[in-house]
Amino acid sequence: MAPGLTTPRPAAPKENIDALQQVVAGWDNTLTFFLNGTKVELENIDPEVTLLEYLRGAGLTGTKLGCAEGGCGACTVVISQLNPTTKKVYHASVNACLAPLVSVDGKHVITVEGIGSSTRPHPVQERIALMHGSQCGFCTPGIVMSLYALVRNNPSPTEHEVEEAFDGNLCRCTGYRPILDAAHTFSSAASPCSKAASNGGSGCCMDGGSGPAGGCCKKMKSLDGDEPPQRFTPPNFIEYRPDTELIFPPSLHKYEMKAVAFGNKKKRWLRPVTMSQLLEIKNALPSSKIIGGSTETQIEVKFKNAQYTNSVYVGDIAELKEFKIGDNDLTIGGNITLTDLEKVAKDTLAHFGPERGQPFVAIIKQLEYFAGRQIRNVGTPGGNLATASPISDLNPVFVATNSTLVAQSLEDGEFEIPMTKFFKGYRTTALPPNAIIKAIRVPAAAPKGEFVRAYKQSKRKDDDIAIVTAALRVRLNNDSVVEDVNLVYGGMAPTTVQAKKAIEYLHGKKWGDPEVLENAMNALEEDFPLKYGVPGGMAVYRKSLAFGFFYRFWHDTTAIVAGKTVEEDLVNEIKRNISTGTRDNTAAKAYEQKVLGKSKEHVAAMKQVTGEAQYTDDMPLQQGELHACLVLSTKAHAKLLKVDPSAALELPGVKGWVDHTDLPTPDANFWGAPVRHEPFFAVDEVHTDGQPIGAIVASTAAQAAAGARAVLVEYEDLPAILTTEEAIEKESFFNHHHYIRKGRPITEALASADRVVTGVVKLGGQEHFYLETNASVAIPKREGGEIEVWSSTQNPTETQSFVAHALGVPANRVVAKVKRLGGGFGGKETRSIQLSGICAIAAKKMGKPVRCMLNRDEDMRTSGARHPFLAYWKVGVNNDGKLVALDVDVYCNGGWTQDLSAAVTDRALSHIDGVYKFESVDVRGTPCRTNTVSNTAFRGFGGPQGMFIAETYMEEVADHLGMPVDKLREINLYHEGDMTHFNQELKDYHVPLLIKQLKEESNYDSRRKAVDDFNATHKWKKRGLSLLATKFGISFTALFLNQAGALVHIYHDGSILLAHGGTEMGQGLHTKMIQIAAEALQVSPDSIHIAETATNTVANTSATAASASSDLNGYAIFNACEQLNERLQPYREKLGPDATMEQLATAAYFDRVNLSANGFYKTPDIGYIWGANSGQMFFYFTQGAALAEVEIDCLTGDWTCLRADVKMDIGRSINPAIDYGQIEGAFVQGQGLFTMEELLWTRNNGRLFTTGPGNYKIPGFRDVPQEFNVSMLKDVEWKELRTIQRSRGVGEPPLFLGASVFFAIRDAVKARRRDGEGVAPAKTAMAAKGVVDGVDGVDGVDGEKDVLRFRSPATTERIRLACADEILRRAYVAPEEGEDEWFVTI
Ligand SMILES: Cc1cc2nc3c(=O)[nH]c(=O)nc-3n(C[C@H](O)[C@H](O)[C@H](O)COP(=O)(O)OP(=O)(O)OC[C@H]3O[C@@H](n4cnc5c(N)ncnc54)[C@H](O)[C@@H]3O)c2cc1C
Ligand code: FES
Ligand code: FES
Repeated sequence: MAPGLTTPRPAAPKENIDALQQVVAGWDNTLTFFLNGTKVELENIDPEVTLLEYLRGAGLTGTKLGCAEGGCGACTVVISQLNPTTKKVYHASVNACLAPLVSVDGKHVITVEGIGSSTRPHPVQERIALMHGSQCGFCTPGIVMSLYALVRNNPSPTEHEVEEAFDGNLCRCTGYRPILDAAHTFSSAASPCSKAASNGGSGCCMDGGSGPAGGCCKKMKSLDGDEPPQRFTPPNFIEYRPDTELIFPPSLHKYEMKAVAFGNKKKRWLRPVTMSQLLEIKNALPSSKIIGGSTETQIEVKFKNAQYTNSVYVGDIAELKEFKIGDNDLTIGGNITLTDLEKVAKDTLAHFGPERGQPFVAIIKQLEYFAGRQIRNVGTPGGNLATASPISDLNPVFVATNSTLVAQSLEDGEFEIPMTKFFKGYRTTALPPNAIIKAIRVPAAAPKGEFVRAYKQSKRKDDDIAIVTAALRVRLNNDSVVEDVNLVYGGMAPTTVQAKKAIEYLHGKKWGDPEVLENAMNALEEDFPLKYGVPGGMAVYRKSLAFGFFYRFWHDTTAIVAGKTVEEDLVNEIKRNISTGTRDNTAAKAYEQKVLGKSKEHVAAMKQVTGEAQYTDDMPLQQGELHACLVLSTKAHAKLLKVDPSAALELPGVKGWVDHTDLPTPDANFWGAPVRHEPFFAVDEVHTDGQPIGAIVASTAAQAAAGARAVLVEYEDLPAILTTEEAIEKESFFNHHHYIRKGRPITEALASADRVVTGVVKLGGQEHFYLETNASVAIPKREGGEIEVWSSTQNPTETQSFVAHALGVPANRVVAKVKRLGGGFGGKETRSIQLSGICAIAAKKMGKPVRCMLNRDEDMRTSGARHPFLAYWKVGVNNDGKLVALDVDVYCNGGWTQDLSAAVTDRALSHIDGVYKFESVDVRGTPCRTNTVSNTAFRGFGGPQGMFIAETYMEEVADHLGMPVDKLREINLYHEGDMTHFNQELKDYHVPLLIKQLKEESNYDSRRKAVDDFNATHKWKKRGLSLLATKFGISFTALFLNQAGALVHIYHDGSILLAHGGTEMGQGLHTKMIQIAAEALQVSPDSIHIAETATNTVANTSATAASASSDLNGYAIFNACEQLNERLQPYREKLGPDATMEQLATAAYFDRVNLSANGFYKTPDIGYIWGANSGQMFFYFTQGAALAEVEIDCLTGDWTCLRADVKMDIGRSINPAIDYGQIEGAFVQGQGLFTMEELLWTRNNGRLFTTGPGNYKIPGFRDVPQEFNVSMLKDVEWKELRTIQRSRGVGEPPLFLGASVFFAIRDAVKARRRDGEGVAPAKTAMAAKGVVDGVDGVDGVDGEKDVLRFRSPATTERIRLACADEILRRAYVAPEEGEDEWFVTI
């Protein structure tokens, strides 16, 4: 059987089918709902489409597909309905990617297009746009709809509610601050002006004398600095008037839910509306699949190819949505939504009071960090229970509280199952197949002596499944003796489990007796004998959490029992405050010109917030268009024995198969720069999981996907190399070995130092996680082999040249076009070409347009990531802290093809000095070839990795010297005029000044003392500080790429069409380029338009990368404008200074003057020669500094960034608002890289495990620094900077500053380890080298020091494991002979 096909379910017996037919006979087969205010009646419904597919198919492409697994929120729509639980209209934000179409019957679906347009935006849309809340804009419609849902339900949300509203949304560009600022204008804490209607509708909070002291109105500290307060009222903003919202259609108030049945033989949907209908269905055909919120099931359908022939949507059965607060319990319907459960639990808590209400507090607590709001709006406890996931968050609470499940079947009527007996094994329960979960009865706690708590730890706080989750309950008699106890855990076994041995031991024991604690912990150890290689990994961490939760529970409750104050830092969990922040806009004021230097929102912002902005997959279907789906290798390294698409070709809609035999020559199959060695399609061997083998082409995307699953591929496994260490051992390298040498021979230089410190740095890669996955549409033309390729690429020219090469035509037959990208970050610099090439090959073969947008998992498996790095370093240093010599071997994991690995390694070598001066340097770089996805460019391009190595050796050297790292840094900072190790003089060098200003402005010294004081008085919470700086070289390291072209047309109506070589991916390039042209031509920016980036308007473009696009394209545009200005000068003189461009252009046109100009620019001076270590490497350096402060929870590894201050020298900003967006976004992305984002491979098969937002966590809204202050260096001159407006590139440089959070965490961990309790790690079991991946208490060269070697990213697991203590000692698991961790980090 083909690997993608599931075992067909045995067909249901005919009598059951017949019985079901009888049940549903006469049921309606239409769906009736409202869509953006208009009634829709759907017949002939495709039973397999989701709401998202339906909406996009209907042309409402504002709703985006980002992941198809409910994890990103890009698909958020609002479904308004009369809620059967609360009996009120509720506007639910919902993930359209998971919602079955059947679920909208009788409801009102509102999409981003339904609430406003770019000419008449909704206030939510307008504020997000004008307050710079969108960059690439791909996440934006989803974010708009989440905020819209919030304000529709509650026009005066609290600040907390505002922040919580986005827990199901991700944005990869903005760093969230501006979105939060925009959203907070709606919060009740904002001045009434933001809700003028609720303030009488006049538009001013001062009306009636009720305004705040100091006058109107909300002061947006972050935007305004010292400027007058900003009004969220006309004329600047549209006021928010809830009374003007789309009404809930009156006919839906009266709508009677009817039973619905539609579909075909393959798939049927049934929508019963009464219990009896449901029970009859289950009785007739027990295998019918019940669907509650579909949040679990749709993922099984999409990613596990589960096929449910009869799906029964139960979300409209009122009996399953009810609740009842009884005398001693709460009964909730099985399919009440989790959002309603939150409210019901709060009401029940109020009813029973704090003691008896503890089980409901536990439910509320678990729901606080349960998925995102969109999931909670539809997901149900019944779905959670029936799924029986071992990491379910609610199930432990139900079990621990001795809840009872009420089941029902037609045959047996209602019957009860105690929750302690419900879970039978991995995803199996005691529920009979013909029964349904009707309700759950949760008992209240005893009025006295009973304690219930719930705990959860995950990689990310918001919207993340648990690593370990628990509900712990104990009931004591008057003598504090345990009468009843239940300790229930998730994440410790294949199912929700009770810690039976600990429970048994605790019965009858005295609560509070230290010996009982000791023995209970011993019993827990016996309960959870996890093996080192446990599936899912993290054996030590899981155990430490299980023990830690109990320890916390014990101390919390024993203190209460003893009437003592609880030890807050042990018992309390880390909570964050409402996010705040500032941007210092005064810095850029001095450089403002007419247009340049002014903050202006992104040119496409209003289109992005209204869903009008078009991305590749939003393009209307072309006539005869086909869809491709890739068949990807499922092996890390294997011989291809057989590839047989014949079964696929038989499937409906499948039109063809494309593979390497469809290329005109074998050589045409290869692409890649600088080395063309990557095949579009595998030939006889696969070298990585995710390598394309071929593609199925079909009429629809779903048919293509079904076809791809049916292609038979047989492999013969070959040995695979996954890690850099293995590659080094096997000498599996790409042929690129660069070095930089300066000063004395390195051995001599090291020998001359007072001491030599050595170390190893390892840091993981990073998935780009642009919200828009790779997409491409190839449109073959009828003549001369011409083809047009639209794609989401940063590199139109390479797309053009490799498509031409693959098709065997000259480049002049291929036009590569880009409207905009939904984020790139380097991930679409080269890797996008693979998909475009494949679509073009398929389009040529089929003679039809071919489209493909990759699923998130396909994208992550094929498109590569940031390179993981490994470095072995030696630093020669004198006892006074003066750095003498640096000697490093640097390796990166390039994956299976070279791609840009060589250049990335080079950049790491050039940034390995950080901001520090050495007399002698010898650094060598080698990219490794492994059987993993081909790693590629990612914002910073090796620079952050180089600088991370630098800051790591600085930290460890300082620890060895026993010197504060700040002092070591200060001693060794570069200054103006110093030469780098690649012999470039530092000009306009402001790092020392940045550090000085940042220290002063952020009160560094007093905060350092406050942190030290905090650490001296807190054992279980520690704080850390770190102040870092960066200098980031701007220029492509490949000299020829430092060029750009532009084309400017002035039409005789005075409008201007601008084209340049850069692509717009959210960074605001088009906005800046328009500003440059507007300033140069002295016109309004509104008269300038950029339609797209295309290779037939500007040829031979460089990739939009290296933070150089504004410099390069900006000057090319300026150059074109200068030519035009010269030609227009006579008309300016003739028509006077007030002449409009229309007048000038018309006059010039009639005089037959050429009003088109082609501009060009190449960066002067640069040209570094490797080996010789001569020539200038970079045109200049962008510089910055950051100070981060964190708090960690030593018991769990949880943490928060309390505050971050970032200061950048970006010269004279072209557009401060856009530049601040880049700084904040890059910092948060860097924070993600160094603290949270971890790519994992499954050891047993070498496949990428982290293939979507479910298991790969990027920072969310509530991960950004709680206080986030950003400023620009001011009051300096940039004498040497010869860029346009004297601005510096800003896209990449701030990213590394996110490492300040990592090093602040390291600082906090060190504080923990310094404590007496924090057992000296080198002496603990945890310090056994290599046993715990990533945390290593290492003895220094001189042997006497405990120096923490802390691997990036600083995940919660690594933080916890680094805080060596007694609990961790208990959790220690030694690997057995030959046993390895479940996952591999490469
Ligand atoms: C992005 C995301 C994040 C998530 N985060 C969390 C999390 O933090 N914690 C957590 O615990 N879970 C999480 N989940 C899992 C999931 O959302 C929950 O398990 C949810 O409660 C499932 O409810 P549902 O109604 O959507 O289930 P469905 O998908 O509709 O159904 C799931 C299963 O339950 C069965 N079922 C549903 N109702 C009944 C009934 N009345 N009687 C019998 N069987 C029934 C279905 O047949 C199916 O087998 C997450 C899921 C996603 C997609
Ligand atoms: S696309 Fe639906 S949540 Fe990501
Ligand atoms: S603007 Fe949010 S992902 Fe790009």
